Amino acid sequence: MNGLFITFEGIDGAGKSTHIDRLAEAFREHGRVVTLTREPGGTPLAEQLRNLVLNDTMDAMTEALLVFAARRDHIAQVIRPALARGEVLLCDRFTDASFAYQGAGRGFDREILATLEHWVQEGGLQPDLTIWFDLPPAVGAQRLSGARAPDKFESQPLAFFERVARGYADRMAASPGRFAQINADQDVSAVWAEVGRAVHAKGMLP
Ligand code: TYD
Repeated sequence: MNGLFITFEGIDGAGKSTHIDRLAEAFREHGRVVTLTREPGGTPLAEQLRNLVLNDTMDAMTEALLVFAARRDHIAQVIRPALARGEVLLCDRFTDASFAYQGAGRGFDREILATLEHWVQEGGLQPDLTIWFDLPPAVGAQRLSGARAPDKFESQPLAFFERVARGYADRMAASPGRFAQINADQDVSAVWAEVGRAVHAKGMLP
Protein backbone atom coordinates (compact mmCIF):
# COMPACT_ATOMS: atom_id res chain seq x y z
CA MET A 1 0.00 0.00 0.00
CA ASN A 2 1.10 3.55 -0.67
CA GLY A 3 1.96 5.82 2.21
CA LEU A 4 -0.52 8.63 2.85
CA PHE A 5 0.53 11.99 4.22
CA ILE A 6 -2.35 14.01 5.71
CA THR A 7 -1.92 17.30 7.57
CA PHE A 8 -4.35 19.29 9.74
CA GLU A 9 -4.34 23.05 9.92
CA GLY A 10 -6.29 25.95 11.36
CA ILE A 11 -6.05 28.80 13.84
CA ASP A 12 -5.67 27.99 17.54
CA GLY A 13 -9.04 26.87 18.90
CA ALA A 14 -10.20 25.35 15.60
CA GLY A 15 -10.63 21.94 17.26
CA LYS A 16 -8.40 19.67 15.16
CA SER A 17 -7.36 17.17 17.85
CA THR A 18 -10.60 15.20 18.26
CA HIS A 19 -10.84 14.67 14.53
CA ILE A 20 -7.21 13.64 14.10
CA ASP A 21 -7.74 10.90 16.72
CA ARG A 22 -10.99 9.77 15.11
CA LEU A 23 -9.46 9.66 11.67
CA ALA A 24 -6.56 7.58 12.99
CA GLU A 25 -9.12 5.13 14.39
CA ALA A 26 -11.02 5.02 11.08
CA PHE A 27 -7.83 4.18 9.15
CA ARG A 28 -6.89 1.49 11.70
CA GLU A 29 -10.33 -0.07 11.34
CA HIS A 30 -9.53 -0.40 7.65
CA GLY A 31 -6.31 -2.23 8.42
CA ARG A 32 -3.89 0.65 7.96
CA VAL A 33 -0.90 1.32 10.22
CA VAL A 34 -1.17 4.92 11.42
CA THR A 35 1.55 7.23 12.70
CA LEU A 36 0.21 10.23 14.63
CA THR A 37 2.55 13.15 14.95
CA ARG A 38 2.70 16.94 15.23
CA GLU A 39 4.68 20.07 14.38
CA PRO A 40 6.63 21.74 15.64
CA GLY A 41 7.73 18.45 17.21
CA GLY A 42 7.48 14.75 16.53
CA THR A 43 11.11 13.87 17.42
CA PRO A 44 13.08 14.48 20.64
CA LEU A 45 15.08 17.28 18.98
CA ALA A 46 12.03 18.87 17.34
CA GLU A 47 10.09 18.74 20.64
CA GLN A 48 12.91 20.72 22.27
CA LEU A 49 12.67 23.28 19.48
CA ARG A 50 8.89 23.37 19.95
CA ASN A 51 9.37 24.36 23.57
CA LEU A 52 11.55 27.28 22.53
CA VAL A 53 9.22 28.40 19.73
CA LEU A 54 6.07 28.28 21.86
CA ASN A 55 7.54 29.89 24.98
CA ASP A 56 10.50 32.14 24.21
CA THR A 57 10.42 35.60 22.71
CA MET A 58 12.36 35.81 19.44
CA ASP A 59 12.19 37.62 16.13
CA ALA A 60 10.16 36.19 13.26
CA MET A 61 13.19 34.97 11.31
CA THR A 62 14.55 33.05 14.30
CA GLU A 63 11.10 31.51 14.74
CA ALA A 64 10.93 30.54 11.06
CA LEU A 65 14.41 28.99 11.13
CA LEU A 66 13.55 26.98 14.26
CA VAL A 67 10.25 25.61 12.91
CA PHE A 68 11.96 24.58 9.68
CA ALA A 69 14.90 23.04 11.58
CA ALA A 70 12.39 21.04 13.63
CA ARG A 71 10.61 20.06 10.40
CA ARG A 72 13.84 18.89 8.78
CA ASP A 73 14.53 16.50 11.65
CA HIS A 74 10.89 15.34 11.73
CA ILE A 75 10.85 14.62 8.00
CA ALA A 76 14.10 12.66 8.16
CA GLN A 77 13.36 10.70 11.34
CA VAL A 78 9.60 10.14 11.16
CA ILE A 79 7.74 11.30 8.05
CA ARG A 80 9.79 9.81 5.21
CA PRO A 81 10.38 6.46 6.98
CA ALA A 82 6.66 6.05 7.78
CA LEU A 83 5.63 6.88 4.20
CA ALA A 84 8.28 4.48 2.87
CA ARG A 85 6.73 1.73 5.03
CA GLY A 86 3.34 2.48 3.43
CA GLU A 87 1.80 3.89 6.60
CA VAL A 88 -0.79 6.61 7.06
CA LEU A 89 1.00 9.62 8.54
CA LEU A 90 -1.36 12.08 10.25
CA CYS A 91 0.43 15.29 11.17
CA ASP A 92 -1.06 18.03 13.34
CA ARG A 93 0.24 21.11 11.43
CA PHE A 94 2.99 21.33 8.82
CA THR A 95 4.47 23.97 6.50
CA ASP A 96 1.16 25.75 5.84
CA ALA A 97 1.32 26.78 9.52
CA SER A 98 4.69 28.44 8.91
CA PHE A 99 3.23 30.47 6.04
CA ALA A 100 0.12 31.30 8.11
CA TYR A 101 1.79 32.08 11.47
CA GLN A 102 5.32 33.30 10.63
CA GLY A 103 4.39 34.61 7.16
CA ALA A 104 0.92 36.13 7.45
CA GLY A 105 0.69 36.41 11.24
CA ARG A 106 4.12 37.83 11.98
CA GLY A 107 4.77 39.37 8.58
CA PHE A 108 7.91 37.38 7.79
CA ASP A 109 9.10 37.26 4.16
CA ARG A 110 7.15 34.62 2.18
CA GLU A 111 9.95 34.22 -0.35
CA ILE A 112 12.37 33.17 2.36
CA LEU A 113 9.73 30.77 3.69
CA ALA A 114 9.33 29.35 0.18
CA THR A 115 13.11 28.86 -0.01
CA LEU A 116 13.16 27.09 3.35
CA GLU A 117 10.24 24.92 2.21
CA HIS A 118 12.13 24.01 -0.96
CA TRP A 119 15.29 23.12 0.97
CA VAL A 120 13.71 21.25 3.86
CA GLN A 121 11.11 19.36 1.78
CA GLU A 122 13.76 18.16 -0.68
CA GLY A 123 12.35 16.44 -3.72
CA GLY A 124 9.09 18.39 -3.42
CA LEU A 125 7.65 16.50 -0.45
CA GLN A 126 4.09 17.77 0.18
CA PRO A 127 1.07 16.36 1.99
CA ASP A 128 -1.36 14.29 -0.10
CA LEU A 129 -4.21 16.08 1.67
CA THR A 130 -4.41 19.07 4.00
CA ILE A 131 -7.56 19.43 6.05
CA TRP A 132 -8.05 23.08 6.96
CA PHE A 133 -10.35 23.62 9.94
CA ASP A 134 -11.63 27.05 9.00
CA LEU A 135 -13.04 28.99 11.95
CA PRO A 136 -13.91 32.69 12.30
CA PRO A 137 -11.06 34.14 14.41
CA ALA A 138 -13.54 35.69 16.87
CA VAL A 139 -15.00 32.23 17.56
CA GLY A 140 -11.50 30.81 18.01
CA ALA A 141 -10.64 33.55 20.51
CA GLN A 142 -13.79 32.78 22.49
CA ARG A 143 -12.98 29.05 22.57
CA LEU A 144 -9.43 29.76 23.78
CA SER A 145 -10.52 32.16 26.52
CA GLY A 146 -11.82 29.33 28.70
CA ALA A 147 -8.88 26.98 28.08
CA ARG A 148 -5.60 26.33 29.92
CA ALA A 149 -2.89 28.99 30.23
CA PRO A 150 -2.25 30.30 26.71
CA ASP A 151 1.13 29.85 24.99
CA LYS A 152 2.91 32.58 23.00
CA PHE A 153 0.67 32.22 19.95
CA GLU A 154 -2.59 31.56 21.78
CA SER A 155 -2.21 34.85 23.65
CA GLN A 156 -1.96 36.89 20.42
CA PRO A 157 -4.70 39.44 19.73
CA LEU A 158 -7.63 38.78 17.39
CA ALA A 159 -5.99 40.76 14.54
CA PHE A 160 -3.11 38.25 14.53
CA PHE A 161 -5.50 35.34 14.00
CA GLU A 162 -7.34 37.27 11.29
CA ARG A 163 -4.02 37.50 9.43
CA VAL A 164 -3.26 33.81 10.10
CA ALA A 165 -6.68 32.82 8.70
CA ARG A 166 -6.00 34.86 5.54
CA GLY A 167 -2.60 33.17 5.32
CA TYR A 168 -4.30 29.76 5.23
CA ALA A 169 -6.74 31.00 2.57
CA ASP A 170 -3.78 32.15 0.45
CA ARG A 171 -2.05 28.78 0.80
CA MET A 172 -5.23 27.01 -0.25
CA ALA A 173 -5.64 29.33 -3.25
CA ALA A 174 -2.08 28.43 -4.32
CA SER A 175 -2.66 24.63 -4.05
CA PRO A 176 -6.43 24.06 -4.25
CA GLY A 177 -6.09 20.36 -5.13
CA ARG A 178 -4.24 19.58 -1.91
CA PHE A 179 -6.66 21.32 0.47
CA ALA A 180 -10.04 20.43 1.92
CA GLN A 181 -11.64 23.40 3.67
CA ILE A 182 -13.84 22.33 6.57
CA ASN A 183 -16.31 24.63 8.30
CA ALA A 184 -15.11 24.23 11.91
CA ASP A 185 -17.85 26.51 13.27
CA GLN A 186 -20.33 23.65 13.72
CA ASP A 187 -20.90 20.93 16.29
CA VAL A 188 -18.36 18.11 16.45
CA SER A 189 -20.49 15.57 14.54
CA ALA A 190 -21.06 17.96 11.62
CA VAL A 191 -17.35 18.77 11.46
CA TRP A 192 -16.50 15.06 11.57
CA ALA A 193 -18.93 14.39 8.70
CA GLU A 194 -17.07 16.96 6.58
CA VAL A 195 -13.70 15.45 7.50
CA GLY A 196 -14.99 12.02 6.47
CA ARG A 197 -16.28 13.37 3.16
CA ALA A 198 -12.94 15.04 2.41
CA VAL A 199 -10.98 11.83 2.99
CA HIS A 200 -13.52 9.77 1.06
CA ALA A 201 -13.44 12.21 -1.88
CA LYS A 202 -9.69 11.57 -2.17
CA GLY A 203 -10.34 7.80 -2.26
CA MET A 204 -8.29 7.36 0.92
CA LEU A 205 -11.08 5.62 2.86
CA PRO A 206 -14.20 3.86 1.54
P1 TYD B 1 -0.98 23.55 18.35
O1 TYD B 1 -0.74 22.72 17.14
O2 TYD B 1 -2.21 24.37 18.36
O3 TYD B 1 -0.85 22.58 19.55
P2 TYD B 1 -1.65 22.63 20.91
O4 TYD B 1 -3.00 22.10 20.55
O5 TYD B 1 -0.83 21.73 21.77
O6 TYD B 1 -1.65 24.08 21.35
O7 TYD B 1 0.25 24.53 18.70
C1 TYD B 1 1.27 24.76 17.88
C2 TYD B 1 1.48 26.25 17.75
O8 TYD B 1 2.63 26.48 16.94
C3 TYD B 1 0.33 26.97 17.08
O9 TYD B 1 0.03 28.14 17.79
C4 TYD B 1 0.87 27.33 15.73
C5 TYD B 1 2.35 27.40 15.93
N1 TYD B 1 3.14 27.05 14.72
C6 TYD B 1 3.85 28.03 14.07
O10 TYD B 1 3.82 29.18 14.46
N2 TYD B 1 4.59 27.70 12.96
C7 TYD B 1 4.66 26.43 12.48
O11 TYD B 1 5.33 26.17 11.48
C8 TYD B 1 3.93 25.41 13.18
C9 TYD B 1 3.98 23.99 12.71
C10 TYD B 1 3.17 25.76 14.30
